[in-house]
Amino acid sequence: MTRRTQLSFLAAIGLSVAAAAQTPSIFQGADLTLGEKLIAEHKCTACHQRKVGGDGSAIYRPQGRINAPGVLRGMVEQCNTELNLSLFPEEVTAIAAVLNRDHYRFR
Ligand code: HEC
Repeated sequence: MTRRTQLSFLAAIGLSVAAAAQTPSIFQGADLTLGEKLIAEHKCTACHQRKVGGDGSAIYRPQGRINAPGVLRGMVEQCNTELNLSLFPEEVTAIAAVLNRDHYRFR
């Protein structure tokens, strides 16, 4: 291997590690399709829109008090309890994982 190919080989490994690290461990393996379905079913967005207007996404403030994956999941769990949604733990995780992918982007 020339030094140049060695370097690009190392860069390729680095990139794949970085890509895997983009999903926080608590959201790894989460069922994103299920999460999207549950968010639609439970009208999360409709209520948020009434509160903040627009498409409702302004309610999600990554710079706010939700500042880590675990806190985000905890918030969804709290909504689950308060709104009496009776979600299973893996459903709470799936919803939080979708919100993380689309809004919070914790790694
Ligand atoms: C009945 C109205 C209503 C429904 C339904 C609702 N929410 Fe909310 N949600 C709110 C309000 C109001 C806030 C803002 C609370 C605050 O800022 O103190 C909020 C805040 C949040 C936050 C925190 C945002 C942040 O970054 O601070 C998350 C996450 C969230 N909701 C997720 C959900 C999910 C997921 C669902 C559906 C399963 C849902 N909510 C359904 C009213 C609702």
